[in-house]
Amino acid sequence: MQIAPSLLSCDFSKFGYEIERMDKAGADMMHLDVMDAHFVPNLTFGAPVIKMLRKYTDKPFDVHLMISEPLKYIDDFSDAGADIISFHTESDSDIEETIKKIESRGVKPALAIKPKTDPSVVFPYLDRLYMVLVMTVEPGFGGQSFMADMMPKVEAIKEEAKRRNLDVLVQVDGGIAKDTIATAAKAGVDICVAGTAVFKPDDAKKAIDELKALCE
Ligand code: DX5
Ligand code: ZN
Repeated sequence: MQIAPSLLSCDFSKFGYEIERMDKAGADMMHLDVMDAHFVPNLTFGAPVIKMLRKYTDKPFDVHLMISEPLKYIDDFSDAGADIISFHTESDSDIEETIKKIESRGVKPALAIKPKTDPSVVFPYLDRLYMVLVMTVEPGFGGQSFMADMMPKVEAIKEEAKRRNLDVLVQVDGGIAKDTIATAAKAGVDICVAGTAVFKPDDAKKAIDELKALCE
């Protein structure tokens, strides 16, 4: 299991330090939640901030776009140093065109789905995707409860990928903690995003190690 700390739960007054702290704690990638106060009822940060943060780690930047028009901003986030860009099937941008744009920038494309979205919407694009992000909370805020009833969606995506011989990772985001991560692991999740669970404890390395151990 890979762990992607969600910087949404960090101390924003020490953003660079928090990235270094997660790097040393054994994070596999940094999960950066971009919100536009339109697609979701919250506002975070954009490409200029991500660009400034790039120097604090060599680990991949996993940029989760919760914005209405992702296609318009793919260049900005690519220039800022994103390694993976996830955008939502529920956004206003054309899915095919947005994937093409991400590919053209040499960035790994990923599709994200909200809790009410059927997993089959990602199937037509599965051969092009590095990852599918299955939201396990309604996007917008950290600290919400894990929706275990999303696990059949994870299984359905994994099964479809296997059937077609495709290597696509499945990530879950929201409510991952010591009492929920084993459920995700059992369903076949490859990457868990974790905000509160890794930023709240003083010892982030211990928190990440414990989460990983619970998946074995
Ligand atoms: C929610 C964000 C998540 C969130 C996870 O919209 O995409 O990344 O920060 O936070 P926790 O782990 O606290 O649920
Ligand atoms: Zn996220």
